[in-house]
Amino acid sequence: MIKKILLPFFFITSLLPQPRAAQLPALPPAPDTPVSQAVPVHTERTKWWTEARFGMFVHFGIYAVPGRGEWVQWNEQIPLEEYAKFADQFHPETGPEEWARVAKSAGMKYMVFTSRHHDGFAMFDTKAGDFNSVKTAAHRDFVAEYVKAARNAGLYTGLYYSPLDWRFPGYIMPDLQRKSAEAMRTQYHTQMKELLSNYGPLDILWFDGGGKEWLSFGGEWQGAQWVKRPKGEPARTSFSWEDEKVETMIHQLQPKAIYNGRVDMRNVDFLCREGDGKLGDFDNEHPWELCTTLAGAWGYQKIAKVKPFKQCIQLLAKTAGRDGNLLLNVGPRPDGQIDPDQVGRLQEIGQWLEKYGESIYGTRGGPFLPVDWGVSTHKENIIYLHVLQWPKDKLVLPSIRAKVVKAKVLTGGAVSFAQGDNGIELSVQSSDQNDIDTVIALELDQPTTTIAFHRVGNSEN
Ligand code: GLC
Repeated sequence: MIKKILLPFFFITSLLPQPRAAQLPALPPAPDTPVSQAVPVHTERTKWWTEARFGMFVHFGIYAVPGRGEWVQWNEQIPLEEYAKFADQFHPETGPEEWARVAKSAGMKYMVFTSRHHDGFAMFDTKAGDFNSVKTAAHRDFVAEYVKAARNAGLYTGLYYSPLDWRFPGYIMPDLQRKSAEAMRTQYHTQMKELLSNYGPLDILWFDGGGKEWLSFGGEWQGAQWVKRPKGEPARTSFSWEDEKVETMIHQLQPKAIYNGRVDMRNVDFLCREGDGKLGDFDNEHPWELCTTLAGAWGYQKIAKVKPFKQCIQLLAKTAGRDGNLLLNVGPRPDGQIDPDQVGRLQEIGQWLEKYGESIYGTRGGPFLPVDWGVSTHKENIIYLHVLQWPKDKLVLPSIRAKVVKAKVLTGGAVSFAQGDNGIELSVQSSDQNDIDTVIALELDQPTTTIAFHRVGNSEN
């Protein structure tokens, strides 16, 4: 995330008029007590979400028109007035109903839709300005359509929102541009109130680009120099997003909605990991989600190629086996359609889940921690092994207290097993070793919960 941010950032800072050091106000001291987020744990609030395991992320906005990803405005330094013209060309024919249908066919259980991304274009009716999809060429409230479509399809419904808005210089220099930063904050609070009030019950609020961590892209002006802050160190600005007010609003207006930690709120429900490379370690103590794209950038990117089926299934298995959720992103084209290659891939994933979904949905990761051959999940009295790469010899599992009473290869074929003091040995004929994921169900004589194991891994925030 940061790397992606820094490159364009250095570019723009070199274009900005460089203030003379003497003009700069002294930096406020680092706060004694940084905003401390509650560390999320599994509770009744997150139960449905943990069981769901697999969701669809949808990045859709006027950035779909040029088709070069959702960061196109920043990356290419497109002037605001120029960029705003994409709104005149943005009048999709289709949209949320189709996405919900596709999500359903992919076996996804929830959706998260970008109500407003960093470019500031709201995909809903808002009193905070005219830069939105209702007042421009599309004349549609996409959030309203989306919430209805997702609910009708029986999917849990989430909204993504970015407090950061590139149109406000206060985001880059919250101290020097205080008025702008405050206007951006007012917009954030106004729009959150609208989203929390006008669209019925919401299940997930997915923040991105909020909190002090993100201000000035994670750095500070020291003299005329922009210096990156060490990770985790709070911003030395007296500007505050006043997230506690938004959090109170959430609790009042959408008490059941769960929310992530990319804002400075006190009660976070789940942690985020971003991108295939951030899959990270096993962690069954904190609810977490890996978000990544099915093809290229998050927003529509003409040149993006859809990820191979094997990669998608293995990622889903590896995520569930680490006790996390997978939020897989599509960036629909400007006409609102999801690229046919991506629809095809999602349907393939759905077909796989129709057959082997019992090894993913409603499971928890473990008890065997991820190793070179693959991962495990468990539910009730069954352990599911996801063998992603077969060892040359037998598969040897550590010993467990429970007795294996039956073993079955869900993906077809037979498995022989032997359980002794040193563990469990399994073998499957090479012709039955599935190239993508050999799913083996081990039925135990007792619930898997009697097998103790715990490990905490790494999450970004
Ligand atoms: C990053 C990007 C953004 C994307 C998000 C998804 O924070 O800034 O474009 O929406 O990740 O996780």
